[in-house]
Amino acid sequence: MNHRSNGEAIDFEHDVPVLSVGGCPDDPWEVVERWMCDNVSHGVRWSNVGTLVTSDTGGVPSARSMSFAFQRHRVIFDTHLGSRKANDIQENAAVCVHFYWPEMRRQLKITGRAELLPVEEAEDSWRKRPASMDLVTVRSVQSTVADSTDIEAVRCEILSSQGPRKLDRPDRYRRFAIDPTVVETWEGDSDRLHVRWKYSRSGGDWQWKRVMLWP
Ligand SMILES: Cc1cc2nc3c(=O)[nH]c(=O)nc-3n(C[C@H](O)[C@H](O)[C@H](O)COP(=O)(O)O)c2cc1C
Repeated sequence: MNHRSNGEAIDFEHDVPVLSVGGCPDDPWEVVERWMCDNVSHGVRWSNVGTLVTSDTGGVPSARSMSFAFQRHRVIFDTHLGSRKANDIQENAAVCVHFYWPEMRRQLKITGRAELLPVEEAEDSWRKRPASMDLVTVRSVQSTVADSTDIEAVRCEILSSQGPRKLDRPDRYRRFAIDPTVVETWEGDSDRLHVRWKYSRSGGDWQWKRVMLWP
């Protein structure tokens, strides 16, 4: 058992298998898919929420929590054009997305390039969203300065509405995909000999190079 600097014991909620040298897949997406399944089977809440890190051309970084979906070899998210993150991506497509699942003592970091997907993908995602989410998304101009009276007007609109109604997707609501070039996995070890793998690829194919990192 390991201890924090204040003497408190570090324990992990679930005993899950660690990626051994022999058992580590060649394609990191197998790890991503396996870990997301483990999150579901172990009841990890909000396991699709991670941190998206962007930076502008001046190198000023910015981070925020986001909901993500994993598809084979890409990470998907929906957001507003004109938001801080979308403006950053327009200037500099290099992004990083980071997840920490403490119950599973696992961390995942994916670095790559974000690209705006065709409008049909945003439309499809919008159709599948619950109608209860639409009104605020339609009224909000994400990341711009808000006037409190405008916010209150939207609140009144929600309270006076006869329940949620499906609205049209605003043009600025779009879907992005991250094309991964580096995937790093981290698994906590109670003796602090955490297990880290770094997968990287270059070019258009899906051949990954895998190395182990010191914790
Ligand atoms: C759990 C959680 C999930 C979120 N999911 C999204 C999301 O999927 N899309 C989004 O645009 N904002 C999402 N947000 C809000 C963002 O954190 C952020 O406030 C917003 O996107 C504006 O970010 P920006 O000004 O850096 O562009 C989420 C926030 C939280 C706490």
